Amino acid sequence: MTDIKKISKLGINDNVAYLIHTAKEISTSYFTNEELAYIKKEIKAEHKLIVINRFSHSAYVVVLDNDTDYKGDEKARIAGSKLVVLLNKTKINTITICSDNLLLISFIEGMVSANYQFLKYFSEKKANPCTTINILGKVSKIALEELVEIIRATNYVRDLVNEPQSFLNAVQFSKEIIKLGKEAGFKVEVFGKAKIEALKMGGLLAVNKGSIDPPTFSVLEWKPKNARNKKPIILVGKGVVYDTGGLSLKPTPNSMDYMKCDMGGGAAVVGAFYAIAKNNLPVHVIGLIPATDNRPGGNAYTPGDVITMHNKKTVEVLNTDAEGRMILADALSYAQKYKPELVIDIATLTGAAAAAIGHYGVVAMGNTPEKIMNKLKASGNTVYERIVEFPFWDEYNEQLKSSIADLTNLGNGMGGAITAGKFLEHFTTYPYIHLDIAGPAFLKKQNNYIPKGGTGVGVRLFYDFLKNY
Ligand code: BES
Ligand code: ZN
Ligand code: ZN
Repeated sequence: MTDIKKISKLGINDNVAYLIHTAKEISTSYFTNEELAYIKKEIKAEHKLIVINRFSHSAYVVVLDNDTDYKGDEKARIAGSKLVVLLNKTKINTITICSDNLLLISFIEGMVSANYQFLKYFSEKKANPCTTINILGKVSKIALEELVEIIRATNYVRDLVNEPQSFLNAVQFSKEIIKLGKEAGFKVEVFGKAKIEALKMGGLLAVNKGSIDPPTFSVLEWKPKNARNKKPIILVGKGVVYDTGGLSLKPTPNSMDYMKCDMGGGAAVVGAFYAIAKNNLPVHVIGLIPATDNRPGGNAYTPGDVITMHNKKTVEVLNTDAEGRMILADALSYAQKYKPELVIDIATLTGAAAAAIGHYGVVAMGNTPEKIMNKLKASGNTVYERIVEFPFWDEYNEQLKSSIADLTNLGNGMGGAITAGKFLEHFTTYPYIHLDIAGPAFLKKQNNYIPKGGTGVGVRLFYDFLKNY
């Protein structure tokens, strides 16, 4: 990860970037009159990233927009990503950001986030030239350390999502969770297949039947002494390490080919725990991550099968590609034993959610008091992982009626993201929110500061939500 340091003095040959809103803020002692005239001309022409090349080093003037709400922060993140792209292109290793601007933290966030790379599988690792960001300005050490851990957590999630299942099967995923737990200080317990069988998690076991690798069920806990909540908040993440669709096999192009991302929800839960623990948030949180691949093996579960789930409800499987809800249902039912205050699941659950809003936000639905959903929406704006609330009307349950079991795992295609959520609600007995990240979890091309591939969506959202809970 890019190194970030606070410094107290600018060296004469340092590469430097000044963040400003208007020409008035430009340091007249640092620039020559000729340079100042050029910068003013550029600002008039509405250029936002102005470069002064001084041969031994460069100076940059970044003109930030004036929005005072969360949109200003987002524009600053994007401006940060543009600067880092330019620095890499021009092979600049170290930059000092000079600013007393309130948007400084978001600007740094955008720079570091955009500088993420996943190089593990290249024999020749072409790391980005820009490795160090120095900060000369008004930012507290605490705020900076907090930001660093949040980005580190997000980058870990990106790594996990980018790992192909040739490395990251369910067992390996649980090992990575244990490793991150040790590093950040949260507790992890992993149930293997025998324990999952003993707990009668029929949904998770059914999806795992076609696999040659065993399933896992990871339980994470962060319980600081000063926790504000008496009853825990539970985060549940879908951990399908690869989704072929099973016997209801997916087509390859633009579908199965990127289904290594199907544990993006599980990874987001791990990342949220990492950030929460590293920054010592005073909240008691439990994480549940059921994990397996979904494959058409000789013993694979089949359309028509009836599965008895962890909470004893029976499910007629009509499509083995609707596997996420099968494994999440068991985790949601297991969550009951903690008598939680609130449960939020996060999952790359439906193509329907992605089709509805693309990668621009997170689809949410739930049955909590409105106040809680509104807090989540506010966090969504703050971190710009915006929340779109879908209806959660009971009428959608009509589609889940089976002629042979309590429920089917397949709706009729109308409101597919919602029927998936309503299916899950049958396994809950507490205030519940369902997040579908099928759209934003994985990008086919970079979007400003969000890199191509795994995005880490969910980490910053959960962190901000729990910080303000
Ligand atoms: N993992 C997929 C959903 C998905 C789609 C994730 C696109 C990321 C990007 C999920 O398991 C799935 O296959 N859902 C089916 C459900 C259907 C069979 C009811 C879908 O959305 O088509
Ligand atoms: Zn599927
Ligand atoms: Zn899936």
